[in-house]
Amino acid sequence: MSDALLIADGVHKTYDMGRSQLHVLRGCSLHVAGGEFVAIMGKSGSGKSTLLHILGALDVPQQGQVLFEGRPVFAPPKQRHFYAHALDVLSGYERRRIALRRRAFGFVFQFYHLLPELNVLENVLVARMVGASTCAWPAQRRPARKDTLAILEHVGLSDRLKHRPAELSGGERQRVAIARALVHKPRILFADEPTGNLDAVAGDELMALLKGLHAVGQTIVMVTHDPGIAARADRVLRLEAGVLREG
Ligand SMILES: Nc1ncnc2c1ncn2[C@@H]1O[C@H](COP(=O)(O)OP(=O)(O)OP(=O)(O)O)[C@@H](O)[C@H]1O
Ligand SMILES: [Mg+2]
Repeated sequence: MSDALLIADGVHKTYDMGRSQLHVLRGCSLHVAGGEFVAIMGKSGSGKSTLLHILGALDVPQQGQVLFEGRPVFAPPKQRHFYAHALDVLSGYERRRIALRRRAFGFVFQFYHLLPELNVLENVLVARMVGASTCAWPAQRRPARKDTLAILEHVGLSDRLKHRPAELSGGERQRVAIARALVHKPRILFADEPTGNLDAVAGDELMALLKGLHAVGQTIVMVTHDPGIAARADRVLRLEAGVLREG
């Protein structure tokens, strides 16, 4: 598929547990086109989060490759061993992954991962700060604040700007996390069980928000174990026995 934004090809991931090894991903492949909303389903422990972390360049597979906009995200497999980490850094793969995470990818997690000491506005603004260089930040400060306020209005939190995470409901916390993920206009939004910690009403509201983002072109890759949630995506893939299947 030539219009693929993200391609995974034969991804393997094994966790080394000392004497034993846990081979979680056994050759996962997928294509995600720009503007698609893809759901990955699978039972607990099937490796959904592991796969999402690899697709989003948060983790490195032992075998296989991920291509973003046609460019490999990981070094060739023989350079991926522990002793070759320095090579990975020097060859620029790790630096590019950092840049992808800061600018091209956005993440939403089941348990929000907000900074408890910061209020809503600051939690979102800080993500914009991380994406900017120190030199560029003074000039970007005002537009960044304007963008942050606009995105918080879009997710319906304009009247909660000064609240800290502990002073918000679960649904509101997840909307802050979505705003944080969107504030640098990511090419792909990765969501790991975004409704997993919400009740049915808050879950529905969150899915309506994701659908609205998708309707204006946001590419989304979402992991869930809930068939009702997965059915809201364009396409559903199933992770079973370490392999992805359509349907
Ligand atoms: N860092 C790790 N070290 C060792 N084993 C791990 C590690 N992370 C995950 N695992 C194991 O790998 C398997 C897949 O984990 P993963 O978190 O990807 O599953 P999941 O499909 O996201 O499950 P859930 O739906 O419960 O979130 C599990 O059996 C888990 O115990
Ligand atoms: Mg998981």
